[in-house]
Amino acid sequence: NTVQPATGLRITITAGPTREPLDPVRYLSNHSSGKMGYALAAAAAELGAEVHLISGPVQLAVPAGVQCLPVTTAEEMLQACEARRNQTDLFIACAAVADYRAEQVAEHKIKKQSGQDAMTLTLVKNPDILAQMATGSPRPFCVGFAAETQNVEGYAQDKLLRKNLDAIVANDVSDPGIGFGSDDNRVTLLLRKGEHTEIRPLPQNSKQQLARQLLLELLTFYKEQQQP
Ligand code: PMT
Repeated sequence: NTVQPATGLRITITAGPTREPLDPVRYLSNHSSGKMGYALAAAAAELGAEVHLISGPVQLAVPAGVQCLPVTTAEEMLQACEARRNQTDLFIACAAVADYRAEQVAEHKIKKQSGQDAMTLTLVKNPDILAQMATGSPRPFCVGFAAETQNVEGYAQDKLLRKNLDAIVANDVSDPGIGFGSDDNRVTLLLRKGEHTEIRPLPQNSKQQLARQLLLELLTFYKEQQQP
């Protein structure tokens, strides 16, 4: 048996959207298909890691060798991630977590009001799962994704520092061929090296190929950082 680059490492990955209920039949969500996160989980398992995938609702098969915990809301995703904190070496947040949820989930289906053409929903902020994982102790090596439609590297760099991450994958989602739901992706990897950030654009590729390449780069960086 050859030793693989991720042998002995425990990797936890979030994937897919979260779904925030409004009432028993409606929810707020987004277009994440889970493809990128599931490709990362498959690649991590192929590279020898013990992989836990914490997944929002998607229509994908769980990759071979991966343990998957399905969740629905951001709060459930947070609980599942926190429960794995002590057994996680690398945490990769690929999920498109809803930033807000309804302040109150209606117990019964919200009825259409006759004579009222507008309605107001009050939303409250969801917890930031990635920022919370990067703050607590023990703190896994934390990798985020940044889905942006403009100033992609600039906003990704902001998130890298603000959320106290080790690395972030900047994803331009303004191009429908390379973001939500697509089979391909093109990203830029930002690695935090002390005061300095190394910026590595990666070529466009299938999400499977890109996942493998991203993991190889992240594993090299992780191992460099572990050295005294
Ligand atoms: O699922 P696919 O269809 O394959 O599409 C892939 C993708 C576009 C969803 C993926 O490549 C991607 O970019 N994922 C991150 C989407 C996102 O929500 O980005 P963000 O910039 O809003 O969030 C920044 C980071 O914080 C992300 O790592 C996110 O997982 C994390 N986050 C955000 C909000 C929150 N409440 N908790 C979080 O953990």
